[in-house]
Amino acid sequence: MRSHLPAAALLAAVMLPVAAVAAEATARLPALSAEDSRRVGALMARMSVDEKVGQLNQVAGADATGPVSPAKAEDLAAAVRSGRIGSMLNIRGAAATRQYQQWAMRSRLKIPLLFALDVIHGYQTVFPVPLGETASWDLGLIEQSARIAAIEASASGIHWTFAPMVDVARDPRWGRVMEGAGEDPWLGAAVARARVLGFQKRRLGDTDAVMATAKHFAGYGAALAGRDYNTVDMSLQQLHDVYLPPFKAAADAGVASFMNAFNTLNGVPATGSRYLQTTLLRRQWGYDGIVVSDWGSVGEMITHGFARDAAHAAPLALNAGNDIDMESHVYDKALAAAVRSGAVATPTLDAAVRRVLEMKARLGLFKDPYRFSDERRERQALSNPAHRLVALEAARKSAVLLKNHERLLPIPPRVRHIAVIGPLARARRDLEGGWLVNSSPQHVVTIAEAIKARAPAGTQVTVLDGCDVDCASDAGFAAAEAAALQADLVVLAVGEGWDMTGEDRSRADIGLPGRQNELVQRVARAGKPVAAVVLGGRPLILNTVAEHAGAILLAWLPGSEGGNAIGDLLFGHVNPSAKLPITFPRSVGQIPISYAHYMTGRPAGAVRAPYRSQYIDSPNTPLYAFGHGLSYTTFEYTAPALSAAAIKADGKATLRFTLTNSGAVYGEEVVQLYVHDEVASLARPVRLLRGFRKVGLQPGASAQVEFTIDRATLSFIDASLASVVEPGSFRLMVGAASDDLRLEARLEVLP
Ligand code: BGC
Repeated sequence: MRSHLPAAALLAAVMLPVAAVAAEATARLPALSAEDSRRVGALMARMSVDEKVGQLNQVAGADATGPVSPAKAEDLAAAVRSGRIGSMLNIRGAAATRQYQQWAMRSRLKIPLLFALDVIHGYQTVFPVPLGETASWDLGLIEQSARIAAIEASASGIHWTFAPMVDVARDPRWGRVMEGAGEDPWLGAAVARARVLGFQKRRLGDTDAVMATAKHFAGYGAALAGRDYNTVDMSLQQLHDVYLPPFKAAADAGVASFMNAFNTLNGVPATGSRYLQTTLLRRQWGYDGIVVSDWGSVGEMITHGFARDAAHAAPLALNAGNDIDMESHVYDKALAAAVRSGAVATPTLDAAVRRVLEMKARLGLFKDPYRFSDERRERQALSNPAHRLVALEAARKSAVLLKNHERLLPIPPRVRHIAVIGPLARARRDLEGGWLVNSSPQHVVTIAEAIKARAPAGTQVTVLDGCDVDCASDAGFAAAEAAALQADLVVLAVGEGWDMTGEDRSRADIGLPGRQNELVQRVARAGKPVAAVVLGGRPLILNTVAEHAGAILLAWLPGSEGGNAIGDLLFGHVNPSAKLPITFPRSVGQIPISYAHYMTGRPAGAVRAPYRSQYIDSPNTPLYAFGHGLSYTTFEYTAPALSAAAIKADGKATLRFTLTNSGAVYGEEVVQLYVHDEVASLARPVRLLRGFRKVGLQPGASAQVEFTIDRATLSFIDASLASVVEPGSFRLMVGAASDDLRLEARLEVLP
């Protein structure tokens, strides 16, 4: 088995200008130069109210994610020339952005446009969907993929991506779990930071860095019943303890913008929330980047029943802290009047406009409005084969081996006939997932092609769909069973298609689509070993697959190189190393579900007892727990040592142990640290992730792993919303998954 390419070699191979991946540097928004400050001040002094409002008006150039807007019918060029548009989304390509910028240069004040786009998991080179990539727990790799996305997008004239989505999500019915980093605030914060650093190249200003966006502020991931755009109601303590840490991490990493959200939070639309956008974000966190609305969300405050009409909505949003109106045209229609009537104070308007102009200055657009729209650079950036290499590495490191009974995988060389069956066996577009902006799915290698390319000479490979991804009919099942009968081993490619997760893709039933489970049962009837490859952008209910397949490789929606990565993993050219960033429940009835649940007054025990917090028809435990993921090797955790048995609340201790690769092949383990605060002023979850490391080891090799236990590890948000470390006893647990803890130590925090 080949070892994974070490990060350094990979970086060298792709020759990307990243100084130090995953180092601890922070990257606040760069300060403005004296010249830029003067320029912005001078411009502001010359601007009319209408021109100021124009800077806060963001309009789409193509219809991607929202209802068709009336502005489509308008002459966009005329609007840009008249200074009524400050930024645009969904225009891409060096030529197109240059054209629009030329129109902006004909406006009275020649203020350049910002071009924004949802570059979520790649521009041309497609990486695994964000949830899948998070399963790598590899922050250097995650930063690197965001870097490449930025290099490609910026070369096509894009200044600003609406990513990363940093919403914590514990309800897999919600289609947008696919776009985030899963259920955990600690992991979510680490990934948010890595993505922001990657997109922004640690410090905005170069032409290959794009503005990142922390979205959707806030609480969107807790939409009731997992239904998109739905209401959110939660205590502020939960909001701060669980949902805000990734946003705070993004702000600390210098993210250029925040996007608010469609949902109401405790009755107030996020877009109109003064608490979120002004009290918290601006005052408490000291954030000085841009706040943009979500698509149409300023106008949707009217539908929510929070604003009477546009004249009401415009001042509500701006006064609450929403700088830019994306596509609801409410600011365009009503903000100038609100300023004239005094409903919006001039300094409030000016502060928002200034933030937009300052960002344009930071990007260097006043000096050269066309500096991102460079067709030569675009051609080079979009044809760089090194980018595919990183996409391959990302897909390999993102696929989770959920099950591997009797070491069915890797496929042994003695297998002479493989049947590749299932609706995703020949998929290309589905491997890339949603939010594609500029990719070429026709160049994606399918799972079947990858298997054929790697099967030893003389191996017969039969390929058959069984049904399409919707799987409404069983017409192909008999042939699938017959093909399985002829084979020594079946690779079954099942799961969701590319458009079954994402925005507006909530599902009430998160099983395999249509009759795919029946296909699994029929194929299994042949009695041959079955290795399932599952695609999807969310946790799926996989009981039937788990019952019938000896091995399950969860590949998510793995991107441009997904087929090749799956082939490498199935044949053991690469050893799986990913771990779940989100719980896989047994049934929809268990949702919302998280490893970080509470004890309750009547915890369920291993053996069923009456009047406990439990179901009469299901265990409480999930099918696959947060942090779970197998390897072709084994790891041993030994010799734990805690440097101190007791510390003060502001003290530090070190937890050390030895990790050994006790198997026969190179492998990478994601070592996880969990903490439980045993008695506190608020009941605390049974365990909380508070550290992790990804460690690569050759067979037989050992490494010392060390976690620092400090304020960040031990604190929580108390009832007054303060971050506190309370005296008392803490359990520290280290293991391979939230349900596979290998070592334990106890630490006392002294009063
Ligand atoms: C989504 C955002 C996205 C925006 C622009 C909205 O519908 O909620 O996440 O950035 O559209 O495309």
